[in-house]
Amino acid sequence: MSSIPTDQWYVAAYGREIGQELFSRTICGESILFWRTGAGEVTAMSDRCVHRRFPLSEAPSRLVDDQVVCGYHGFTYGADGRCVAVPGQTRVPRTARLKSYPTVERDSFVWVWIGDPAKADPAAVPRAPWLASPDYTTVSGMEPLKARFELLVDNLLDLSHETYLHGGYIGTPEVAATPTTTEVDDEAGIVYVSRHMDDAECPPFYAKSTGLTGRIMRWQDIEYSPPCLYKLHSRIAPVGVLPRPDGSDPDAFHVEVVYAITPETEHSTHDFWAVARDFALDDQGVSDFLAEQNRTVVLQDVAALDVLERVIASEPPGYQELSINIDTGGLAARRMLAKLVEPSAAPARTA
Ligand code: FES
Ligand SMILES: [Fe+2]
Repeated sequence: MSSIPTDQWYVAAYGREIGQELFSRTICGESILFWRTGAGEVTAMSDRCVHRRFPLSEAPSRLVDDQVVCGYHGFTYGADGRCVAVPGQTRVPRTARLKSYPTVERDSFVWVWIGDPAKADPAAVPRAPWLASPDYTTVSGMEPLKARFELLVDNLLDLSHETYLHGGYIGTPEVAATPTTTEVDDEAGIVYVSRHMDDAECPPFYAKSTGLTGRIMRWQDIEYSPPCLYKLHSRIAPVGVLPRPDGSDPDAFHVEVVYAITPETEHSTHDFWAVARDFALDDQGVSDFLAEQNRTVVLQDVAALDVLERVIASEPPGYQELSINIDTGGLAARRMLAKLVEPSAAPARTA
């Protein structure tokens, strides 16, 4: 059985990736064609012509006035996936229809629902409001991962690896040395992992972007909504500077690090990453620096996880992992993911 939960929302793309042209991406093993209508709506349908499976994203297939014309024999489809014209006859078979997928465009992402469309509730799309907020400046990207999505979930839920895998970027000795707390909200479907470092070295990622020198308070509060959306609320402040009693926090720097973990296949993943900050909003130098640094960090993870995937795929099953305290969040996430693929899995939660 597949380990990928299907009755779920997944990030398929950034909104900026989809225009009035044919765009294909494989999500959860399904090859999906995306395009934007003249009115600006994103559509999602199977990227396989019902006639002889020619991919509708491949030239010479083309988009003409909100209709897709298959480049092989000319079957023509509307924005709802229904076939409106076939060659050589006027009657269009009733079953000539592409599978279409519900989509929601929100917080700069295009979300797609894989699975039973009747269960798709747009209100259940988890939110990352900073990514489209004028109060934040965001840099973002996507890196392909040749590893199963569960390895990225493990990776992101346990940031102690920053010290080792990302030394010189975001890792300092305090990350691995500081214990975490984990909370699981089964009802809302969220795993929380927090690590509050109250007197830590400032890694280059934050020193160069904030201008802080010397030691810092560095709080990492993770919020993971399985399967797709991961948020790391990162708070950086001079040592001893706390949020005010009214909850405001004007003397700290806030960075919202967002990942969307979208399975491409059972053994590959789209690793969407975004870094939103509430300081130096108009400073292009800071944007360029954070984009380059975060991409480098993501690629360090990609390299490690690609290795792990090769190891796992080439060795017999049954390897006994040894888990310790740092793995509590990752294990909670695994339990939640396992529940989502059970046949009796509850309908989509509201986030
Ligand atoms: S394969 Fe598309 S029209 Fe024949
Ligand atoms: Fe990492």
